[in-house]
Amino acid sequence: MIGIFDSGLGGLSVLAAIARALPQADLVYFADTAHVPYGDKDDAFIRARVLAIGGHLVERGCTLVVVACNTATAAAVAAFRAAFPAVPVVGVEPGVKPAAKASRNRHIAVLATVSTARSERLARLIREHADGVRVDVAACPGWATKVETLHLADPDFAAEVGRQLAPLLDAGADQIVLGCTHYAFLAPLLEPVVAGRAALVDVADAVARQCVRLAGPTAHGRGRLHLLASAQPERLQAALPALGLHWLTPRLAQPAARAHA
Ligand code: DGL
Repeated sequence: MIGIFDSGLGGLSVLAAIARALPQADLVYFADTAHVPYGDKDDAFIRARVLAIGGHLVERGCTLVVVACNTATAAAVAAFRAAFPAVPVVGVEPGVKPAAKASRNRHIAVLATVSTARSERLARLIREHADGVRVDVAACPGWATKVETLHLADPDFAAEVGRQLAPLLDAGADQIVLGCTHYAFLAPLLEPVVAGRAALVDVADAVARQCVRLAGPTAHGRGRLHLLASAQPERLQAALPALGLHWLTPRLAQPAARAHA
């Protein structure tokens, strides 16, 4: 079984890519909805949540764990690997490397949570993979919460998204990295704003390819999906159709359940 987790709904964008790439694998998705968002929390809090949820997933029998959250990866993937050395762990990091490679203007922008934006891990990623490329990092407080509440068509929020992107595009950024898994669900808002000027960069498919490489026998299950949430599991299940993931619903082995981690 592959365990995938996030603070809330964002990691469903990664889950979807993994479910497409590994249709027979059994998947369990944990949304830490009692503590979302992570992006405004401190590192010690995020680390404690990652260790608790990771432990829960390992106890349930997961043999591969995906931290489907840039914020949790930046703050705690090293601690997770140290605590569970026998379990392969795939983290999610902003697609700085592919964006820097693809940029014609040698100028990219990263949209991320406050926590990821200030993280040493992102600074290192930029140092290592964007040499000679201008990288603007834009913290986007509140965006993940808009996804959580499924307020995706709110015109005030659309205007805020436009205001955030305008200076980045005007300055010449031609690759906009979605540095938070929640932002994949904002693509319908972002695409018209960047159209003809920049490309959106999301790493969900790359993460799924890494899972294919590491899955081994875990790839061959019954294609079942378990949804777990630390609060309001019914909202997690209802989010599937709301986020265009209705095709995952028939895979559900049982209704989404509350889990204590
Ligand atoms: N989805 C998460 C990420 O990729 C975090 C969003 C949040 O909880 O603030 O960063």
